[in-house]
Parts: sequence; structure tokens; C-alpha cells
Amino acid sequence: MDFGKDFIWGTATASFQVEGGADKRGENVWDMFCRKENAVKYGHDGLIACDHYHRFKEDVAIMKEMGLNAYRLSLSWRRIINEDGSLNEDGVRFYNELIDELLNCGIEPYVTLFHWDYPLDLYHRGGWLNPDSPKWFGEYTKIVTELFSDRVKNWFTLNETQCFISLGHGLGIHAPGLMMSEEEVMRCAHNANRAHGHALAAIRAYSKQKASVGFAPVGSVIVPETDDPKTVAAARKRMFEVSHPRYWGNAIWIDPIMLGKYDPELMEYFADHKISVTDEDMKLIGGDLDFMGMNLYVGERFGLNGRTPLKVGFDMTAIEWEVIPEAIYWGARFYYERYKKPILVTENGMANTDMISADGCVHDPQRIEFMRRYLCELNRAMRDGSEVMGYMHWSLMDNFEWAEGYQKRFGLVYVDYKNECRRIVKDSGKFYADIIKTRGANL
Ligand code: NOJ
Repeated sequence: MDFGKDFIWGTATASFQVEGGADKRGENVWDMFCRKENAVKYGHDGLIACDHYHRFKEDVAIMKEMGLNAYRLSLSWRRIINEDGSLNEDGVRFYNELIDELLNCGIEPYVTLFHWDYPLDLYHRGGWLNPDSPKWFGEYTKIVTELFSDRVKNWFTLNETQCFISLGHGLGIHAPGLMMSEEEVMRCAHNANRAHGHALAAIRAYSKQKASVGFAPVGSVIVPETDDPKTVAAARKRMFEVSHPRYWGNAIWIDPIMLGKYDPELMEYFADHKISVTDEDMKLIGGDLDFMGMNLYVGERFGLNGRTPLKVGFDMTAIEWEVIPEAIYWGARFYYERYKKPILVTENGMANTDMISADGCVHDPQRIEFMRRYLCELNRAMRDGSEVMGYMHWSLMDNFEWAEGYQKRFGLVYVDYKNECRRIVKDSGKFYADIIKTRGANL
């Protein structure tokens, strides 16, 4: 198996999940949510996290040792711009040093503008419900582009809009913990899509070099039970139809961005609820992207009789998500067919109950097997004609798994929280290094 010489091999993280250094930045909705009783397991918070803020040089050195040629990081809005609009010099210095360190080590930075740590003060002004929120995001993006685009070429606007809007504003299980009505969630959804459009326009207008821009939605992938063409067609149809509740499927989060339009059923919904969707909005939202990001963990098995229930004894991760490698195949295939843009796997990985063994190492055969299976399926998608630019494993290191706290470990690198966050490269980290070195020949 070969992934080719230009394949992007990366890992991904997000600011709130790894940085810590909270005393050096303004607050965001996750700080507030962590203080809320019983909102986050074990009362964990992001104050220290993995202390990446202080240990980033060591982390970049580990990445270099692994042979990565890309690293996906996210920026914390309130580490860069203070509430009063002035620059947070300390934060700007931090990101400058991190970007420079990566480039010095031959690792290309892939920067996500927003990975859920929404400024708390803006939330108090209505957050995503405020019709001006897309403009705020565009202004933030302009500043960030001016600061870093002399060295950063690759950008993602929003990470998993589905989650921060649906889980955060509909189901209340992520920050800011709201349980809005469906029509209000839909209002936020359209504003988030508009925010993507404003950010894209700002990057195009202010980048100091030719930028490559995408976004990182979570792939809501339907996996056909068999390869029989009728089943495949049924799965494809299901994957792109307006799903219920409306605010979870691809129709609301991916189609408008990749195709520049909402399904007529959604347009009717917007009109019925007096949610304004203008031609100008759609032009911004549907602005041309360079690639499509895909965060891929799970998929829904589907047959001619509808959804296939999970079988007793299904393989699962520590978060109880099914291990379903075919999802990465069908995700790459169905998205590529529909949107005709190269696919970049922006996240894929698994939670495990890793611990340090008597020999001082962290042995995680499940993650090795997980990676092997998913990468084989990704390679099959490439052989079958999907254009795939690269793969970024979630995550470089164990980190704050949102409402689950720190106990769900996703890293290729173990973070020993009990001992000042010291790092131990897990067996899977060494395996990944080998995959990169052999371009997949060892799979
Ligand atoms: C998707 C999110 O982008 C990331 O923040 C999260 O930790 C992983 N999935 C695992 O749940």
C-alpha cells in the first residue's frame, strides 16, 4: 500500500484542549461551562490542560521525531484579541513562536480559526444568535490573517459546526450549555455558516500569499451494508437528505458551503420562521474552497430496510463509538463524488484507557489496530478514485475531551497529568512514525 510522496501526514489538536496558560488569555464559553456544576465530568477544566502553552517546543520536537509534515492547531480568539479590541501581545508572541518552531522543523502549520472556545463577552452579547456574529468572526479572521499569513498558508474556518451549535445550543451538553428551540438553533446554524463565509472572504482579501482554505466538519457518513448498487444508492440518498432533527445532517452544514445553496425544504423552514437567508449570504457561504476537510470517527450502517442496528459484540472505543473503518472509505467517496473537491482527513482517532506499564512505556495495541484499519480503508478510497490529500490523526496528545474531561485519552502521546504533564510517546506514536516513513507500506 502506498499513499504517495505528496501525502500530508499530520496530527491535530485544539487550543482549549491542550494549551492551558489560561491566565494569559481572556475567557471563553468553555471556561464558564467548566465552572458549572456537573457540566464536565470530574469537574475538570482547561486552566492547565496539557500545558502545551509552556511545553510547545518539546511537542514540536516530538512531531519532528515522528516525521510529520503537517500539524493542525487552532487559535484561541481571546488569546489574540482582547475584549476591548487591542492585541494580546503575549498570545501573539506564543503563536508566532509556535508557527516558527513548526516551520523550522519542516512541519507545515494548518490553522483552524475556531475550535469551540468562543469569547465569553461575545456570548454575553448574544453569541451565535446575534446577526452580527458572522461579522465579528470576519473581523477576527482579518486580524489573524494579517498577523500570520506571511507564514501560514493553510486554513480551516470552523471546526465541527454541527457540534458547537447542536451540542452547545440545542442539547446543552457542550458549552455554552443552552437548550434552545429548534428554530433558534437553526438561526445560530445559519449565522455560523455565514461566519464561515465572512472568514473565507477575509482570508482571500488579506492573505499575504496564496492561501489554501477549507473547513473541518464532522462527516455524517452513511455506510451501505453491502456493495450492491441499490444499497449504495439508498445510503447516498440518506446521507444528503434533510435529516431530523434538521440540525444534524450534511444538508444544513456541508451542502450550503460546498454547493452554495440550501435544500428547498430548508429554505422553506427558514422562510416559515422568518430567518433571513439572502443571495448575498449564499454568495459568501458558498465561496470557492480549495479542499474539503473531514473529521471522521463513526458512521451509520444502512441497508435497504433502513438503519442497521449494532450487533452484539461490536468493536468499540472507550467512548463507546463503533469502530467502523468503512466509514472513512464511504465518507471520502460520497463527499468527493458530490462536491468534487480533494478531501483532507482533518481528524480521525480513538479514545482508549491507556496507562503506563511497568516498563515505563504506554502500550496501546487497540489504537494501532484502529489506525491500521482506517488507513487501509482510506487507501482503498484513493485507489477507487477519491482524491485524498492527507490524514491528520486526532490527536497528537491526550487532552481535554470536552464534557468527558481528561479521562478519555485520544493521543499518540501520553500526557502524564499526575506528573506535570510529562509526555510519553505511545506505541501507536511509534507505529505512526513508521507508517509515515514507509508511506504506508507497513500497513
Ligand atoms: C472532534 C473534535 O473536533 C475534537 O475537539 C474532539 O476532541 C474529537 N472529535 C474527539 O471527540
